[in-house]
Amino acid sequence: MKFQITDKNIGSVKADCELVFIIDKNFENKFIKDKEAFEFLGFDGEGAQLVQSSNTIYVGIPKLEADELRLGASKAYGAIKNLKIKSLKVASYHVGCDRLSIQSIVEGFLLGSYEFNKYKSKNKPVSLEEVIISTQELNDVKIDLDKAKKGVKQGEIIASATNFSKDIVNEIPEIYTPLKMAKDAKDLAKELKNVTCKVYDEKFLEKEKMNAFLAVNRASANPPRLIHLTYKPKDAKKRIVFVGKGLTYDSGGLSLKPADYMLTMKSDKSGAAAAMGIIKGASELNLPFEIHAILGATENMIGGNAYKPDDVLISRSGVTIEVRNTDAEGRLVLADCLSFAQDLKPDLLIDMATLTGACVVGLGEYTSAIMGNNEELKHEFKTKSKASGELTTVLEFNPHLRELVKSQIADISNTASSRYGGAITAGIFLDKFIKDEYKDIWIHQDIAGPAYTEKAWGYNQSGATGAGVRMNLYYLNAMAKEL
Ligand code: BES
Ligand code: ZN
Ligand code: ZN
Repeated sequence: MKFQITDKNIGSVKADCELVFIIDKNFENKFIKDKEAFEFLGFDGEGAQLVQSSNTIYVGIPKLEADELRLGASKAYGAIKNLKIKSLKVASYHVGCDRLSIQSIVEGFLLGSYEFNKYKSKNKPVSLEEVIISTQELNDVKIDLDKAKKGVKQGEIIASATNFSKDIVNEIPEIYTPLKMAKDAKDLAKELKNVTCKVYDEKFLEKEKMNAFLAVNRASANPPRLIHLTYKPKDAKKRIVFVGKGLTYDSGGLSLKPADYMLTMKSDKSGAAAAMGIIKGASELNLPFEIHAILGATENMIGGNAYKPDDVLISRSGVTIEVRNTDAEGRLVLADCLSFAQDLKPDLLIDMATLTGACVVGLGEYTSAIMGNNEELKHEFKTKSKASGELTTVLEFNPHLRELVKSQIADISNTASSRYGGAITAGIFLDKFIKDEYKDIWIHQDIAGPAYTEKAWGYNQSGATGAGVRMNLYYLNAMAKEL
């Protein structure tokens, strides 16, 4: 889908259909030409309504906010996608006309039109090819064309990074092994400016004493990979390291998941997929930071050589871990990857993981948890990432919960002694692997809820949502503006 910005009057722009956003439910807006038809059609300003006689699609949005515009654009797309409409025009007047609004509309179309259909033998054709945004204002005040074009460009980059991440998560576990992730990362580095990629095999993991990571992989027919992507522009201002949980399949291991819970566990690579999407976005946005992505790619399988509940693992950092449940494998992989990541001396360290079912129970399926030791940093992240539309909740560590991950036999247990507070105790487990000097620059993001959905919601189709990509890119973009 292509986007075009024009300062031509909306009336003189040629297109098969016009999109009109409705904010005012009294329909007092000069672009609304079909008030009478609304009465007949029973359209009260909510949802999308096509009026064929005037080739107009009306979409009601409750507020002029970035995410409402994303939702609105995606609803408009949904209403016309199977019609023979090749081009759609929209006047920016409706949306307050700033860069973020235009960016959000572009994101809404691109996120809403994503499909993962490679395994369907038949697909319905989609006609829409072009969206033309006119910057004509209500009182003929025009917005800066350059700003509008920047909005389009940023929207395209951020949505395409998100959709790129969705493709990785949606791919089936038979195909998407750690080796495939390594190949994708290498290909990505070839494609992008200022990006390099190193891939480390099991011998390297052994040399680095990444025994927690290796234990998770042990019963898998597919070897593990530690993948290190680096985006390094000239004169980078800060070094930011992302760490992603890349479980290409999580069967639970010997603490095997029940059948119903195992289904969808191809999505356990979402943290790593998000980190790859962030590198893509960062490079295309030319962000002024040095950004690393450390991906821990492995499966968690069963077999005669599987690691076992009762085992004790000596992690890369030297901290010993009692394994009480092999399904709490993500934190084991992350423990070693976080240790590796701190050797890069980051100014900011962010891990992303589909870490706990408890997080989904606690926050619901739509919200990611933000954890860490630095109150200010967590809240700053929440505020600066808000316009992305991704929902976040800050969760707090406390000394009582810290007690629960103590082990009788090792330095820490991979499960808590209580079933309550599981998202936070997982975060506390990871904290054990963060050195004192990095405690305050570390954020843990549990994306288990929103990363994958079995039913479509908002502009997300069923399947992967690309959770983590937009919130972090918006955060980085906001930080870049402050430089
Ligand atoms: N990958 C799962 C967490 C998960 C659950 C992600 C649901 C997305 C949706 C993780 O490895 C896991 O199984 N965690 C266990 C931890 C428990 C054994 C302490 C869980 O949450 O049940
Ligand atoms: Zn698990
Ligand atoms: Zn897992």
